[in-house]
Amino acid sequence: MTAHPASDDLASFWMPFTANRQFKSAPRLLVSARGMYYRASDGREVLDGCAGLWCVNAGHCRDEIVAAVQQTAASLDYAPPFQMGHPLAFEAAAKVAKVMPAGLDRVFFTNSGSEAVDTALKIALAYHRARGEGQRTRLIGRERGYHGVGFGGISVGGISPNRKAFSGSLLGNVDHLPHTHNLEQNAFSKGQPAWGAHLADELERLVMLHDPSTIAAVIVEPVAGSTGVLIPPQGYLQRLREICTKHGILLIFDEVITGFGRLGRATASEFLGVTPDLITLAKAINNAAVPMGAVAASRKVHDAIVESGLPGAIELFHGYTYSAHPVASAAAIATQDVYRKEDLFARAGRLAPVFERAAHALADAPYVKDIRNLGLVAGIELESRADAPGARAYEVFVKCFEAGVLVRYTGDIVAFSPPLIVEEEQIEKIFGTVRKVLATVQ
Ligand SMILES: Cc1ncc(COP(=O)(O)O)c(C=O)c1O
Repeated sequence: MTAHPASDDLASFWMPFTANRQFKSAPRLLVSARGMYYRASDGREVLDGCAGLWCVNAGHCRDEIVAAVQQTAASLDYAPPFQMGHPLAFEAAAKVAKVMPAGLDRVFFTNSGSEAVDTALKIALAYHRARGEGQRTRLIGRERGYHGVGFGGISVGGISPNRKAFSGSLLGNVDHLPHTHNLEQNAFSKGQPAWGAHLADELERLVMLHDPSTIAAVIVEPVAGSTGVLIPPQGYLQRLREICTKHGILLIFDEVITGFGRLGRATASEFLGVTPDLITLAKAINNAAVPMGAVAASRKVHDAIVESGLPGAIELFHGYTYSAHPVASAAAIATQDVYRKEDLFARAGRLAPVFERAAHALADAPYVKDIRNLGLVAGIELESRADAPGARAYEVFVKCFEAGVLVRYTGDIVAFSPPLIVEEEQIEKIFGTVRKVLATVQ
């Protein structure tokens, strides 16, 4: 594609999660990237305030990762992962396992977060069946949860527009916890809000309603991103963990966004001190250089499934042609090495107070009704226009892009999650640009 495609060239690509007609009438194209910056097709530099899509945690086009991808593409383009292996897959799994919470060191590779979620749900069902509790088939998600777009993920997910067109065909045996968002109690909280731990007790109610013996797993994002940055109330996740443990229910943390340093530690689980049974991963696992996702499983879950199989029998009838693709695996190895060598997770933790101050400095800007943050994630919620929810945040997003800063928006919430290599002046630039833009929007 040329840098300035004719508008006809845009017709064939049916864009995901995009207002296709609106976009194609005024496209925004990125043609290259390096470090903290994209370059747009009109030559402008654009500061990346959201790590692409919460995924380029080490910054763009890192030499070590590029070299690993190039070398592997030229030496082992593909190897089948069923009944065959290649060394990079095992090395990548070991590197990922090394930064997972203690005991979650068995890694199943997928190609996306959505596949990681469906894989984790299937592993949960297979685990109970392997232990003779095959009646545990119910899955519990949460309102406003985002777990990708597979049928499993949208069923346990709780974002209405993502479910609406498919509602007749969602998984049947699913219930949802209430979400934890409450501006009357928690507006402008810095870090974890004080109010809301009791909302975890709703799990106890659902468990009693359905009977504990029917429930396989609970899945939540420790910090919800795609729904507009919802930070877990203090004590909430601990309580979910206790209830799951009490009733033999597996707890799945969807860490597709929080995995690999976003909060200042390798995982939100480590940062928040709550260990689930399964963790879903993707995005920053290999700096988004090649599609890849994964499920990190506890030994308990892994061993129950793998040791229940007859000798010589496949234990889990699940997997993808591209599970542990050599090029994705090479990128994962190189990425994990960059994170370790540059101590990027700790760097994110050190920058978090600067980021928090810069985000909350917008409290008096027009239309701002909440600011929330944790680690290097922040969300600014705006008052919606009476007749057009989402339109104001969209205008902020477009104007920020025009002003050289990439942010994300969902509904009327503007979200921030820069690469972990971000500098303090760049943090100021990101939020300073949003302040200027807010002064101009309707
Ligand atoms: C928490 C969470 N789970 C799952 C996904 C889906 O990942 P993917 O788009 O790679 O399928 C996302 C994507 O943003 C996510 O934020």
